[in-house]
Amino acid sequence: MPDARDDIFFMRRALRLAARGRGRVEPNPMVGCVIARDGRILGEGYHRKFGGPHAEIDALRRCELNTRAATFYVTLEPCCVTGKTPPCTDALIAAGPRRVVAAVRDPNPRIRGRGLRALRRAGIRVEVGVLAREAADLIAPYAKLTRHKRPWVILKWAQSIDGRIATRCGDARWISDKDMRAHAQRTRADLDAIIVGSGTVLADDPALTCRIIRPRRVATRVVLDSRLRTPARARLVRTARKVPTWVFCGGGAPRVRARALEQAGCVIHRVPTDDGNLSLAAVLDVLGQRDMTNVLVEGGGRLLGRFFDQRLADELHVYIAPLLIGGRDAVGALDGLGSARIREALSLEQPGPMRRIGSGWLLQTRLHSRSG
Ligand SMILES: NC(=O)c1ccc[n+]([C@@H]2O[C@H](COP(=O)([O-])OP(=O)(O)OC[C@H]3O[C@@H](n4cnc5c(N)ncnc54)[C@H](OP(=O)(O)O)[C@@H]3O)[C@@H](O)[C@H]2O)c1
Repeated sequence: MPDARDDIFFMRRALRLAARGRGRVEPNPMVGCVIARDGRILGEGYHRKFGGPHAEIDALRRCELNTRAATFYVTLEPCCVTGKTPPCTDALIAAGPRRVVAAVRDPNPRIRGRGLRALRRAGIRVEVGVLAREAADLIAPYAKLTRHKRPWVILKWAQSIDGRIATRCGDARWISDKDMRAHAQRTRADLDAIIVGSGTVLADDPALTCRIIRPRRVATRVVLDSRLRTPARARLVRTARKVPTWVFCGGGAPRVRARALEQAGCVIHRVPTDDGNLSLAAVLDVLGQRDMTNVLVEGGGRLLGRFFDQRLADELHVYIAPLLIGGRDAVGALDGLGSARIREALSLEQPGPMRRIGSGWLLQTRLHSRSG
């Protein structure tokens, strides 16, 4: 009889396998599966790429022994619908397991509990909830996209110890060192979009590309520019035929400017404004409709500040350099309205750990415990 320690051990292994799908499976969820009997692993697998076999099928294909009376550990409830692949519940039932242990239910309304019920109806013992928190954290971006049709929003910046992201003259090159920048480049390889404000395009003329070889995905570059001030000579515009580049603007932005950017290969999206700025909710709705699961907001301060003020962010990646910039006119990391009182400040329940990277530190943390 498997005991609770076995369940945790095998589920932890399944979670580690699931995470290998990062950047390859979205907008589908990362899922891992371990098949075990009498304390031995018979096979294991994970969802390797979008449209490819699900984790349970991948694990079954890698089993050398038959799976009768085995236990399947899955990080997400098995699917019971035909999508790009047939229902996993049918394959599981045919494999004849004694137990299926799932970490969490699938938040997708087409499934949500139905997969587990199908297994129970077939006489299989089903348990849910082993390492549920870890599994929910892993699929939080998928859960958000499924429930709210909006991507998971990561705010990222590089700051001095005193919280400045550029000097009073707008100089930001380079606050981070090359190790921090290399780390940030690797993060870009897993994302669907990198978002910046027009202020950053005008000040830094960034390329926003991922310079690692064979990235898992190519992020769309997104500029929020209500009046279309982005110049045709900007690197983003000059490379728009090679790397997808979207410019969001307001309804009243000049049509000639829009046409010039379109001719250079940019895609223009007109969205409503809110308080004189582009509506971030509308921008996220457009990205969600395109099935973008993870997006990174890379600054500058005004844009990051508005995401923060409107509580539209899910995660932070803050690179902290051992520098002090000072100056009341230097650009702050969250240059929006901010909190009037300390009790209104966003308090992190469980801030992630601070890691050493190069000469500084990286704080990577979720802003709320679970995606709602
Ligand atoms: N250290 C770092 O990690 C880092 C990263 C990026 C940038 N930076 C630095 O930050 C500075 C630029 O920051 P910034 O605050 O001046 O500019 P920004 O945040 O990049 O851009 C702000 C501009 O974006 C446009 N925008 C459109 N919709 C918006 C919305 N909903 N909310 C906010 N802005 C919106 C607005 O211009 P329109 O009204 O014309 O649309 C606004 O003025 C530069 O000095 C740059 O070097 C540092």
